[in-house]
Amino acid sequence: MIGVHPAWLPASAFRSVGSRRVRVTGDGPVVATVRAEVGAAVAEHGGALVDDGPADLELVCAPDGAEADPEAFVVGREGATTVVRAIDGVGLLYGLHHLVRQGETAFAGEARPRRHAPRQPVRMLDHWDNVDVHPVMGQVERGYSGGSIFYDDGVVRADLSRARAYARLLGSIGVNRVGLNNVNVGRTEARLLTDLLPDVVRLADVFRPHGIKVHLSVSFAAPITLGGLPTADPLDPAVRDWWARTTTEVYAAIPDFGGYVVKADSEGQPGPFAYGRDHADGANALARALAPFGGTVFWRAFVYDHRQDWRDRSTDRARAAYDNFAPLDGAFDPNVVVQVKSGPMDFQVREPLSPVIAAMPRTRLAIEFQVTQEYTGHQKHVCHLVPQWREVLGFEPWGEGRPTVADVAAGRAAAPAGGVVAVSNVGDDPFWTGHPLAQANLFGFGRLAWDDRLAPEAVLDEWIGLTFPGSPTVREALHEVMDGSWLTYERYTAPLGVGFMVKPGEHYGPSVDGYEYSQWGTYHFADRDGVGVDRTCATGTGFAGQFPKPWRDRYESVATCPDELLLFFHHVPYDHVLHSGTTVVQHIYDTHFAGREEVRRMAETWARLEGDVPPAVFDRVTELLAEQLRSATEWRDHVNTYFWRKSGVPDLRQK
Ligand code: GCU
Repeated sequence: MIGVHPAWLPASAFRSVGSRRVRVTGDGPVVATVRAEVGAAVAEHGGALVDDGPADLELVCAPDGAEADPEAFVVGREGATTVVRAIDGVGLLYGLHHLVRQGETAFAGEARPRRHAPRQPVRMLDHWDNVDVHPVMGQVERGYSGGSIFYDDGVVRADLSRARAYARLLGSIGVNRVGLNNVNVGRTEARLLTDLLPDVVRLADVFRPHGIKVHLSVSFAAPITLGGLPTADPLDPAVRDWWARTTTEVYAAIPDFGGYVVKADSEGQPGPFAYGRDHADGANALARALAPFGGTVFWRAFVYDHRQDWRDRSTDRARAAYDNFAPLDGAFDPNVVVQVKSGPMDFQVREPLSPVIAAMPRTRLAIEFQVTQEYTGHQKHVCHLVPQWREVLGFEPWGEGRPTVADVAAGRAAAPAGGVVAVSNVGDDPFWTGHPLAQANLFGFGRLAWDDRLAPEAVLDEWIGLTFPGSPTVREALHEVMDGSWLTYERYTAPLGVGFMVKPGEHYGPSVDGYEYSQWGTYHFADRDGVGVDRTCATGTGFAGQFPKPWRDRYESVATCPDELLLFFHHVPYDHVLHSGTTVVQHIYDTHFAGREEVRRMAETWARLEGDVPPAVFDRVTELLAEQLRSATEWRDHVNTYFWRKSGVPDLRQK
C-alpha cells in the first residue's frame, strides 16, 4: 500500500489553480486554510502566491453589505482574472473547492459573477466511534473501514493527522458539523463532556480551520453517572443546574462548540421515560443549557420498542417514531432539532419516507441518512447510495408541487431549518472507506447536502473526475459499475420494500427468517400463501394513515401502492400481479437472477481497468467485487429457494 489514499483531493486535482498566479486576501483561520491549500498547489504545479501585481485568480474575503451568508461565495471572471469573493473564510474555502471541481473551465472565457450558497444550512456527519473498543461493536459501531481516526483503544489519538486530513476532505465538500462519538454513549465516551474535554478541544481545533463545528453525543443519564446526582429527571432543578454548569464549561473550552446529539429511550439508552417525562421535556432540558451559547441539541426520533413479541400484530415498529414524536409538535425549544431517520425502520435499501417528516410543521427537523453501509453491503459491496438520498430529498410528502423533504430540512417549508445528517463511513483504513468506491458516497453526501437538486450521476461524475483524473475510459467504466448499483443491491437482497432478511447482529449476508421470530419488530410474515406486512388502516397496523394525502391513500391501496414498496405496506398472495405485469413470486425470482448477473457484469467491467487505475485501488476493488459476487449469489440462492419452498410456485424461467 502506498500510504493513505488522497480520496478526491489528489495533488493533480489542484492543477488548474496551482499553475496560476493567485492572490488570497483576508484573515482568520479558514482563510489561512485557503492560503495553505493554494500555497501547496502552486508549489506542486508551478504557479505562485502573489501579494501584488497581476493575478490569474483572486480569492477575496472581505465584508460586503449585500451578502449575509458566511457560507456563500460569488465567482466570476473580471477580464482575464477569475475572482472569488466571500464575506467569511468558510465561503472562500467553498469557493476555492468549487474552482477545483471545475478545473480549467473556471479560467476560460467570460463569466458574469454568480452567487453560490448552500441550499441546506446544516450539513452534518455523525460518527459512531467509540473511545473504548466495545466488546461487540468494536472501535466504530457499524464501521467497515478499520478503526477510528479519532480514538484508539480507550484514548483520543496522540497523532491526529488522519483526523486533520479528514477535516480537509469534509471542508472541501461543505460539511459544516461533525458528531464526534457514537450515539450509544458508553462510560468512557460520556466523559468527553467532563474530564476528557481537553481531548475534545484538540479535535475541535482540528475541524475549526475547515469551517466545521463539533458536537458530542451525550448520555441522558450523565447527571447521575458523571454528576453524582440521584436522578436525571429533566424537570428537576438540580439536574437542569448540572447541565447548565457542565455546558458552560464546555463553551469556556470550545466557544464555537456546536451542541449535543442525543439518543434517548432507544435500544437501551437512558431517557426521559424513566421519570414519566416525554421527549420534549428531555430535549428542552439540554436545549436550555445550550441556548445561552447558541448551541443546538440534535434529538433523535429513533425510539421504538425493541422487546417486541413477534406474535403481537398490533405493535408496528414503523409507527413508533411518529407515535412518540408527532404529538409533541410545537413543544420543542427553538434550539432543538428532532433528527429523523429517513425511513420509519432502519436504513434499509428501500423504505418509504419516515412520516414524521410531514407531521411536525412547528418543529425543526433533520433527516438522517446512513453513509456507512450497515444494511447495504458493509462497504464490501459497491452500492452507490446518492440516488437513494436524492430520491428521498426530492420526495413531496404532501403531493406534487408541494414542499419536498429537502425543503423541510432546509427550513423552506414551515419550521426553521433542521438539517441533513448522515452516519459517516470512514475509518483508519488506507482508503478511508474500506471499499475505495465507497468514498463516492461520502463525497456525494456532502455535495447533495449542499445542493439537494444535483443529479446523482453529475455528483458521481465530479467525484470520478477528481479521484481518477484524465481518463475517459475510467469515467465511463465507473459510471457503468456505480450509477445503478443501489438498484442492483436492491434486486439481489430483500424484495419489494420488505426489508431485513439479513443475518441478525452483523447485518451482512442473507438470512430470510433471521429476524422473523425475534424481538426487534422487523418481520416479513411470509407463509405458504403470501408475504408482506399489512400496514393499511383498513386491516393492518394503520401506519399508512400516518402520511398526509395523497400518500396515505396511495399506500393504503394495493392498486396504487408503488411496486417497490408493496410488501412494506401489504401482505399479498404470491400470485398477486404487480404493476410491472409480473407476479410477486416471479418478480422475486427474476430480480434475484438479474441482480446477481449485474454484479457479474460489474466485475467484468472493472477488470478492464487494470493499468488505468492505481494498482492498489485495482486490487482492492477486484478483491471486493469477488466477495460481492459471492455474496450476491448467496443472496439469490437463499431468497429464491426460500420462496420456492414456501410458495410451491415454480420459477417460470427455470423449467
Ligand atoms: C441501528 C444499528 C445500531 C445503531 C442504531 C441507531 O439499529 O444497528 O447499531 O445504534 O441503528 O441508529 O441508533
